[in-house]
Amino acid sequence: MRRVKREILDPDGSSRGFYSEDNRVNDLTGREWVFWTRSVITKPYPPKMQHALRNQHGGQKPPDLCADLLRVFTKEGQVILDPFMGVGGTLLGASLCGRRAVGIEVSPKWIGIYREVCAREGMAAQETIEADAREALGAMSGRSFDCVLTDVPYWKMDTASRSRGTFKRVGGEAKPVRASKLSAFRPEEYASKGEWLEQMAGIFQQAAALLRPAGYLLSFIGDMYRDNEYHCLSAELAEMLRRIPGLVWKANLVWYDVSKKLHLYGYQYSYIPSMIHQNILVFRKENAG
Ligand SMILES: C[S@@+](CC[C@H](N)C(=O)[O-])C[C@H]1O[C@@H](n2cnc3c(N)ncnc32)[C@H](O)[C@@H]1O
Repeated sequence: MRRVKREILDPDGSSRGFYSEDNRVNDLTGREWVFWTRSVITKPYPPKMQHALRNQHGGQKPPDLCADLLRVFTKEGQVILDPFMGVGGTLLGASLCGRRAVGIEVSPKWIGIYREVCAREGMAAQETIEADAREALGAMSGRSFDCVLTDVPYWKMDTASRSRGTFKRVGGEAKPVRASKLSAFRPEEYASKGEWLEQMAGIFQQAAALLRPAGYLLSFIGDMYRDNEYHCLSAELAEMLRRIPGLVWKANLVWYDVSKKLHLYGYQYSYIPSMIHQNILVFRKENAG
């Protein structure tokens, strides 16, 4: 059978390439699809969309990056679930690219900031649910989502982050490392890494059950250097996700965050990396689960 392809033009008349009517995954042209098969995202995402307000969270993701991911893994009009919405990177991204989204967040403060961002930007807010994801997802049976795009919380790491000692910033004065900004997630964070993984397993299993067949599940996850060693949290989370029936691991995208500063950690005594990337784990629901 002959495939129907049509050229897609940008508003300025330039060609985006050819879109195939057979494309069941997204609305990208072939040329755009090839571009987004890159496993490393180096595109810069300068602060915008009330960044100063959203920055109170400390773990917020660029809405434009979320929109780019949603353009790759969904079609216009489809519905996305984010069980850990924070100040709404996923929800804002969904609005930017004409998708619908439902966000769950346990902290009313972060939902309030998301709503304030929408008001200031003149955007309609997406659906938000203020609740613990464990309870909210349990009450959502019967709903179905085309995609899950989320960004996991962590566990209490204040003690660990302080134990890293005193380091010097490149070109700056020696000063102690602040407690991790991730501590801003309190009191929603988990007591230990073990408890964290266990809770994540339960919540992702619930989210995967609401994902339609052939839908994609994506999660941001940063690796860490803590307590004198590298913690490949992306591998640990991915291994857990692989055990959820029906989910098949498709990619580990690396987002190179150009806004991150380099540090002189460990100079002259031990190699310590400057963490300037986040992983985006990509899973697809393929079997009955
Ligand atoms: C990494 S942040 C998400 C940031 C988000 N991507 C953004 O752009 O703002 C994770 C969020 O999960 C929330 N959270 C933690 N445990 C939760 C739970 N059990 N149910 C719902 N939300 C939870 C935290 O309050 C935190 O805001």
